[in-house]
Amino acid sequence: MASVHDDLRPVTVVTGASLGIGRELALLAARRGEVLLVARGHDGLSRLADEISAQGGRASIIALDLAQPGATDHLLSVLAARGLRCHQLVNNAGFGFVGPAATLDRGGQLACIDVNVRALTDLTLAVLPAMIRRADGGVLNVGSVAGFMAGPHSAVYYATKAFVHSFTEAIRAETAGSGVRVTLLCPGPVNTGFLARATGGVRQSEASLFHLPAAAVAKAAWHGFIRGQDRVVPGWPNRIVQLAAWLLPRRALSALVLQRQRGRTTL
Ligand SMILES: NC(=O)c1ccc[n+]([C@@H]2O[C@H](COP(=O)([O-])OP(=O)(O)OC[C@H]3O[C@@H](n4cnc5c(N)ncnc54)[C@H](OP(=O)(O)O)[C@@H]3O)[C@@H](O)[C@H]2O)c1
Repeated sequence: MASVHDDLRPVTVVTGASLGIGRELALLAARRGEVLLVARGHDGLSRLADEISAQGGRASIIALDLAQPGATDHLLSVLAARGLRCHQLVNNAGFGFVGPAATLDRGGQLACIDVNVRALTDLTLAVLPAMIRRADGGVLNVGSVAGFMAGPHSAVYYATKAFVHSFTEAIRAETAGSGVRVTLLCPGPVNTGFLARATGGVRQSEASLFHLPAAAVAKAAWHGFIRGQDRVVPGWPNRIVQLAAWLLPRRALSALVLQRQRGRTTL
């Protein structure tokens, strides 16, 4: 039976597409079809859409604060108004803070939950039913190696990523055999502006064996997603971190994370 949705053009929605990993994921997605780029900053999105158009791709943008209530409904109405349907969803937008939870701004930490958890969940729940009906499409959720452990001095951020891992694994199990791909990306440290923002500018970047370029992380993620892989952990050092998180006692792991995160807020 024909559906009213058959008239709509399939699009890959990428959140947090203006910068960093999301920008690279959007460029890869645009090679295979139309993309809708989402973030707050209009200028970054607009530049990326122009770049995609110059490469022969098709992109549109929506400047949207995903921490705001009603963000998902607004996104859905924009999709419908533009004659689009979300064929693939890349839930990449996210941010964090470094510092003791009791001293960091309370509203900012709740906004972190709103973007990293609430918006990711809401968007997934909004588009998944149609994907299942069509037996097509997929969801790529961006977690972190932070999701494997508790994160003293970045407590809320680490907890949001643990949620992303749990939610994504559960959705994947529920949709197994449905034709819908669900993939969890767990990057370790990536060379983006993420750390500068998380530390309020105290740390601009860190040079270490563990840091990967955003383009390499996005490439590994995108290939894993297209292949229907359940989880992508880019880079062998991060796979060792994953293993250590499984093997080490939780208290020892927390002590290690605390030491690392404390070092990030002091120069
Ligand atoms: N970089 C790392 O070391 C690292 C490691 C592990 C996991 N990750 C995860 O990877 C993802 C991307 O990180 P990244 O390093 O690429 O970060 P980034 O360079 O800081 O980019 C974050 C993106 O999210 C968007 N964003 C932030 N708040 C938003 C909001 N309220 N509404 C809509 N969009 C919002 C930003 O655009 P606007 O500011 O314009 O809104 C930007 O496009 C995040 O989920 C992060 O947790 C990063």
